[in-house]
Amino acid sequence: MKKKALILTGGGDCPGLNAVIRGVVKRAEQTDDWEVVGSIQSFDGVLHEPQEIVELNGSNVAGIHYQGGTILGTTTKGGPFAWPVQGKDGAWDFVDRSDEMIQKLKDMGVEAVISIGGDGSQRISNRLYDQGLNIIGVPKTIDNDLLSTDYTFGYQTAVQVATEAVDRLVTTAASHNRVIILEVMGRDAGWISLSSAIAGGAEVCLIPEIPYNLNVILEKINTRFKKGRGHVIIVVAEGAVEQGGGALSEVSDEIGNENLKLGGVAHKLLHDLKAAGCDVDMRETVLGHLQRGGTPTAFDRILATQFGVAAMELAIEGNFGKMVAYQHPNIVPVPFLEAVKDQNFVGPDSALVATARGTGMSLGDK
Ligand code: F6P
Repeated sequence: MKKKALILTGGGDCPGLNAVIRGVVKRAEQTDDWEVVGSIQSFDGVLHEPQEIVELNGSNVAGIHYQGGTILGTTTKGGPFAWPVQGKDGAWDFVDRSDEMIQKLKDMGVEAVISIGGDGSQRISNRLYDQGLNIIGVPKTIDNDLLSTDYTFGYQTAVQVATEAVDRLVTTAASHNRVIILEVMGRDAGWISLSSAIAGGAEVCLIPEIPYNLNVILEKINTRFKKGRGHVIIVVAEGAVEQGGGALSEVSDEIGNENLKLGGVAHKLLHDLKAAGCDVDMRETVLGHLQRGGTPTAFDRILATQFGVAAMELAIEGNFGKMVAYQHPNIVPVPFLEAVKDQNFVGPDSALVATARGTGMSLGDK
């Protein structure tokens, strides 16, 4: 009988997930003794009654590497440690089903679990590993905020989409002599905003790691507009904060989704600038989930495929409790503990920030 590896995708989707799945299956099929199954919607497929588990093979993963999303589906709600259960009074409670799930996986004959996810998913994997599950992590997120890996896949695609948005906004802003504020994703990390601002040549970029001062932005706008003519593109990360302020966020109303919903900073900035006396025309654009959908770039497909093959390799070796990571030019296994001890932020003194400042871009602080 063949050994069974179970693969799943958890958390927000990102371009490249399918390329990982294909990489895992392709590598497994080179062996005579491994087969791969997928759990639908993260760990839910294992816990649901009846279970939702699909066989994965060369035929059903053929050609999926350039498709966005995930053929297995995903979720940002619940999970084995906080499974939502509704009481008779309608109130929701959250129960720990992790032991039960590990037992179910044993009963299914699963010898290795490959979990593709962001920092939240890696933390869940770490806890499951501590409870005895043979599990391997694969880092994904457009935010690029995971420690231990130079890049997560999905990030380059998001930067590409955001850069195209900047390019398009420049032409319309220039035609109308406007300030246009583009709000991009990234939560607590400014990777997408700063990279797309540099690639697109924006005049201002605001990132969570460098709190902004409204007067600095106002001054930049004023120097760019001569006799009412000029244009300014401001790229703002959804998690950007004003000096002395906090990020704009709200608690999710989706049962079991513990993530704060970020958003609204572009709108606030536009109105704050107006209130501070900015009298040029201004518009705002929120790029949203366009950054997450669609075809992965070649870079992301390659990285995702490398991660998939390397994760299956670890399963074959029996090397569990690790997350695969890209440390140029190698793909290396990193213990979960190391990978989840912090997040990867843009350093205020980093080369990327220095490059932005070197082009005359304002980061809103000076
Ligand atoms: O973490 C990825 C991400 O796209 C963030 O950049 C964003 O804040 C969040 O997910 C959006 O989540 P949701 O899809 O739940 O709205």
